[in-house]
This record gives sequence, structure tokens and C-alpha cells, in this order.
Amino acid sequence: MFITFEGIEGSGKSTQIARLVPVLRKKGFACVVTREPGATRIGKKIRHILLDSGHDVMVATTELLLYQADRAQHIHEVIEPALKADKVVISDRFSDATTVYQGYARGLDLNWIERLNDMVVGGLKPDLTLILDLPVELGLRRAWERIENQAGALREDRFEKETLAFHEKVRQGYLALAGLEPERFRIIDASGDPDPIHENIVEVVTRVLHTEQS
Ligand code: TMP
Repeated sequence: MFITFEGIEGSGKSTQIARLVPVLRKKGFACVVTREPGATRIGKKIRHILLDSGHDVMVATTELLLYQADRAQHIHEVIEPALKADKVVISDRFSDATTVYQGYARGLDLNWIERLNDMVVGGLKPDLTLILDLPVELGLRRAWERIENQAGALREDRFEKETLAFHEKVRQGYLALAGLEPERFRIIDASGDPDPIHENIVEVVTRVLHTEQS
């Protein structure tokens, strides 16, 4: 079972994944938690290139191909082996992020991105994708608080520096994708307290996992 989390900056994906996984493990599911970009040794280097604040000269095509390079390595080293071993794979972002960030928000051709996505993922598709949805102003406020607290670390804020309009396109892009494939996507209201959001996510994910098992 392959589950992905998506959402704008500051939507709380990593916090919610960290809370979900112990619950699933307690229920007996073997889980592998992973993310894009940066889940592999090569991917970590690609992540630094992609998110480095100083790389403001990066053109959209370079960005697109680097995300795809990270993904190819990620699938080969992490996702496929875990799925073959019957694990539940939970990834913080996957190819929908490319469609939305590089397509809907950066404006690269969506057909071109879809062809590239197909080439890289080779038929691998999440069984379930949760979109943590909230207003962009709130998400960005949370994201900047996190970045300011990352003492000493390389500042990974190239995307947070984008305009509100860019992030609004990302949000609307995710909602558009959910409309195209309602059976795969679940939109989770991520604007409130983490506790009820967590309970909502646990309910959605366990329902799907049990349906798959039966
Ligand atoms: P993160 O903040 O969730 O770790 O993601 C890093 C950034 O990379 C985030 O701003 C979204 C962006 N991104 C893309 O633009 N395209 C992609 O394909 C992926 C996976 C992430």
C-alpha cells in the first residue's frame, strides 16, 4: 500500500506523518516513512541543490528534471523494495507535487510533465493521497516559523520566498487534481488544531488499509 501526503508549505505533513505512523505500527502495519526530495544519499544532494536559497537563478526546467532525478532514485532504492516486502509506504510528497509546483504554479506544460512523470514512475501510483489543505497565509506563517528555528542548518527556503500568488496556485492545483481523481485523493482540513486533524487522518487511512486487506 502506497500512501502520499501533499500540501502547501506549512500544511503540517511531516508532523501528521510522525503522529500517524506509531498508530499504524500499533495496529500491526509495517510502515516505511519516506519523503521527496531527499530520501536517498543521492537525493539528499539533489535536495540541497533544489532548496538552497542562493539558487535563485535556477530555471523551471532544471528544477523539474532534478525533482524527477530524485524520484527515480527514490523509487528504485526505497519505494519499490518496501512495496515488494508488503510494507505500507508513506511518502511526504510524490509526483503530484511536480504536477502542481512545476506545472500549475511554475507554468510548465502539463502534458509534458505528465509524460515525464509516467516515464519516471513507470506505472507506480499512490493508492491514497491526502491533501492537507489550508489558507496559504497560514501555511506560510507556520513554514517561516519553522525555518527561523532551523539554527545553523542550510536554509531550505527557496520555495517559501515565492509570492503568495505562487502558493495560491499550488493550493488550487492540488484541489484541481483531487477533483480529477476523487477516488484516490482525500482533502483534509489542516487549518485547525493538530489533534482533530490527526484523528481525521487516522480514520481515513485505517479505513482504506482495512478495505485493502479485506
Ligand atoms: P518539503 O518542504 O515538503 O520538504 O518539500 C520541499 C519543496 O519542494 C516544497 O517547497 C515543494 C517542492 N517540490 C516541488 O516543487 N516539486 C516536487 O516534485 C516536490 C517533490 C517538491
